[in-house]
Amino acid sequence: MCGISAIASHRPVAGSLLQCLKNLEYRGYDSCGMAIFDQGKIELRKNVGHVAKVDEVEQFHEMQGQIGIAHTRWATHGGVTQANSHPHASNDGTFVVVHNGIFSNYQALRNELKSKGFVFHSDTDTEVLANLLQDLYVGIGDVEKTFVAAVKRLEGSYAVAVLTPYLPNQILGAKKDSPLVLGLGDGENYLTSDINAYISQTRDTVLLGDLEYVIVSKENYQVKSLVTGETLHKEVIQVQWDKETAKMGGYSHFMLKEIFDQPQTVNNALAIDDTQIQAVAERFLSKTHNFACGVGTTFYVAMVTSYLFKRYAGLYVPAVSSDEFPTLLPLSADQHTLFFSQSGETYDTRMAVRAAQNAGGATSAVVNVVGSSISQMVDQCIFQGSGPEICVVSTKAAFSQVVIGWRIAMRVGRLNGTLPAAEEQRILGVLASFSDLLERTLNEESGFIRQLAKKTSHIHNWLFMGKDIYYPVALESALKMKEVTYLHAEGLPAGFLKHGTLAMVDEKLYSLFFLPSPEEGELYRSTLAAIEEVKARNGVVVSFATEDNHEAREKMDYCIQLPKLPKELNPLMQLVLAQLFSYYSALHLGLNIDKPRNLAKSVTVG
Ligand code: F6R
Repeated sequence: MCGISAIASHRPVAGSLLQCLKNLEYRGYDSCGMAIFDQGKIELRKNVGHVAKVDEVEQFHEMQGQIGIAHTRWATHGGVTQANSHPHASNDGTFVVVHNGIFSNYQALRNELKSKGFVFHSDTDTEVLANLLQDLYVGIGDVEKTFVAAVKRLEGSYAVAVLTPYLPNQILGAKKDSPLVLGLGDGENYLTSDINAYISQTRDTVLLGDLEYVIVSKENYQVKSLVTGETLHKEVIQVQWDKETAKMGGYSHFMLKEIFDQPQTVNNALAIDDTQIQAVAERFLSKTHNFACGVGTTFYVAMVTSYLFKRYAGLYVPAVSSDEFPTLLPLSADQHTLFFSQSGETYDTRMAVRAAQNAGGATSAVVNVVGSSISQMVDQCIFQGSGPEICVVSTKAAFSQVVIGWRIAMRVGRLNGTLPAAEEQRILGVLASFSDLLERTLNEESGFIRQLAKKTSHIHNWLFMGKDIYYPVALESALKMKEVTYLHAEGLPAGFLKHGTLAMVDEKLYSLFFLPSPEEGELYRSTLAAIEEVKARNGVVVSFATEDNHEAREKMDYCIQLPKLPKELNPLMQLVLAQLFSYYSALHLGLNIDKPRNLAKSVTVG
């Protein structure tokens, strides 16, 4: 997630662009920059750090001109350096680009442009668009046609804005699967990632759709279809949000926004370059012993991954909590550990990385924050590209890690001959179909889950249970519930119930069961049996089932309805719906959801 801003105005834009950068800083804050057209040329200034710090160094207000673009970055491709900061200029400086999203085919485009003599000054995917525009313009000679031709060659997700001296009074923008909105001001127009950028200036907004492009000047704008080229007549809406609501994209809390960001998060995780997945997978085969490691939520991500390694690669990859890692394991050089960390700064995980490395072991990591300590310590790092997670409790970052862990486990399976390539492709297709289904289900089930949370928020004791991969899903969901509601939720394997915990069950104890789909055979049947054990003691059961699964629904007191979905997606869907349940429970209790008591986003001390 990054923040794009562009303004065409009747007055100098540097000050307004700086304000937009500040307003969008929550979308990314590792570097920022600005490009403004004045007197026949584009001036570009950018650097690393928070907006205020970069402004101190680069003195944005000195820049002249009435049309410009700006960007605040959350690194996805390439480290946090001045060269990787946006905007990016083409080799001859005639096209300057800002971008949010990931061009999944950037490597192929980069190679193609390199073979034509283009030189790349950054590691970003964005720079390819600037050079592609320069390259295509030579043959086409018309900026709009060049822009459309270039954007049509992009794969993945993007929102882009382009500035060029060939079209000195206009900005071009386009979007697919990343947000871009148009703000209509008085003698000036804005093109930005979200309305938060310009809400203090205007509330008149045009929402741009996927595969649409826009040409913006200070007085006009034209929206067209990238597919047919026809002009689209878009409704102008009046946004009523206040500034804080705007920052949350209209959601009442960052937690809710981040839960609803997850369809996009899945796509970002699937767009990560295959070579990166392969590089980590190869490390698994280079050593005799492999571990997966994280702490708190990321430990549960490691546990989920552990089940996936068994399923797809036939390997036992124990999940170890970072805080126990140095003492539990006999560490040696013949080991490889895959670490998960959203922040990349967690003390316990850093210490575990160090312990593994001191013993000579290989290390890799999945990390959200580029430039963070863990990303620099490990031999191989995959940046998950989930965008900043503002709510203290992790939702979308963890979810993305699960998808990346899934890809790694499948690739290891393919490399060691356990998983046929066609099966890997099939499952990747299933994961790719998840985004739409998840978005739909979140919208459809929110109302019911909210009502359910209202009915149950007085319950102080919960058991969250599941078997197999649903077990770490239950653990993570219980942690989420505890963090935001301060209610007691104990996660445990459903098979464990009858070995002691059953003693607690009565009509006052509520249980949330994560239920496999009937297709999962014995796993489904044995989870249903555990539900029956609870029901037989008058316990109250909440669980998940599709509309036509009457057998399971009859055994539940409350059923959260699932859509028809491939069995692979069943635990993922339940994980997200359980996040929503925790959210609404906390909302009903009137708690500080985004900043629960006693917690910090990044625990950097031991
Ligand atoms: C729970 C949560 C924490 C973190 C844990 C590790 O919602 O956010 O349990 O998962 O502190 O943090 P990272 O992933 O930054 O290493």
